[in-house]
Amino acid sequence: MRVLVTGGAGFIGSHVVAALAAAGHDVSVLDSLHPAAHRGERPAADLDGVTVRLGDVRDRDTVDAALDGVDAVVHQAAMVGMGVDLADLPEYVGCNDLGTAVLLAGMARHSIRRLVLASSMVVYGEGAYACDEHGPVRPTARRRDDLSAGRFEPRCPRCDSPLRPGVVDEDDRLEPRSVYAATKLAQEHLADAWARESGANATALRYHNVYGPGMPRDTPYSGVAAIFRSALERGAAPQVYEDGGQRRDFVHVHDVAAANLAALHALDDRDTPGIRAYNIASGRPQTVADMATTLACAMAGPAPRVTGAFRAGDVRHIVASPRRAHDELGFTATVPPATGLAEFATAPLRA
Ligand code: UD1
Repeated sequence: MRVLVTGGAGFIGSHVVAALAAAGHDVSVLDSLHPAAHRGERPAADLDGVTVRLGDVRDRDTVDAALDGVDAVVHQAAMVGMGVDLADLPEYVGCNDLGTAVLLAGMARHSIRRLVLASSMVVYGEGAYACDEHGPVRPTARRRDDLSAGRFEPRCPRCDSPLRPGVVDEDDRLEPRSVYAATKLAQEHLADAWARESGANATALRYHNVYGPGMPRDTPYSGVAAIFRSALERGAAPQVYEDGGQRRDFVHVHDVAAANLAALHALDDRDTPGIRAYNIASGRPQTVADMATTLACAMAGPAPRVTGAFRAGDVRHIVASPRRAHDELGFTATVPPATGLAEFATAPLRA
């Protein structure tokens, strides 16, 4: 298949490009080398033999040229992470939502009906929780005075007791709690509307916390694995927020690339137009403190420091079921986090 990968010069996108090319697809890349991800890097003319078109998905003419002769699009181009502050808001919405809208309109013009979209677990907001007294409940956002007092577990909206965390599946309520999360959910909705109207199939891959070789270094847009890795490289202890007991699912970028390939191959099996979402996770969640310790040990660096500090808008636990991706896409992560994180400790990061 002739496949366009937007954002194909980025951390995840470049691994997706390699996986698609290795599977025999004819791959091309559209990437703007956005400074939030690339920090002024020189444009690469090609990426392991794949031609890179330098340009922005928000630009109609660029998109038209990139879509010419294409059978499917794997849309990875986006601004990720928490960002610096609300001044980032227009750029998140522009890159992620306007960019997706321009791309989808172009796909409609070119009669391209296959889309794999990079989404994120952030669309759920807090993970799943149950109260001993009231059963499954949706926690309200954590209160600043609770966080300042070191009470980090979300509470029951009915009786205020601390809740037990569980596992989210794709049909759970979606409740984005940051600008980035809101733009990711809007992308899913736009892709769904496009697919229904044009008789197309779209798949949203809700990535969990992706890590691996080529991850950008410590920036406001980086995930915690890169932040800890950069600290350890400087000889500094990783600064673990809250009490370190918050749980995430760290999934290796090679598995994420394999999930994209599986999703692309499964698109034609669906007979109802629209979008279908899948959690892309290792299935082996761990606490942020444990992840920091694994990295620190692998780098023989200073032990992590649990600071009790917190970030407004952070969720406490987000752990998802990888079952649907297994059952419908035939995708199961193969890199155990312990092995992947130990390897990541010495893998090259992007400048
Ligand atoms: C956030 C973003 C998500 C993005 C991801 C990676 C939201 C709500 N979340 O998710 O969209 O995909 O970043 O860019 O928009 N932590 C530390 N020390 C640090 C930094 C972070 O302990 O120096 C903790 C955080 O408090 C959090 C956990 O590590 O509990 C994970 O943080 P992060 O990597 O930013 O990812 P998410 O919050 O899961």
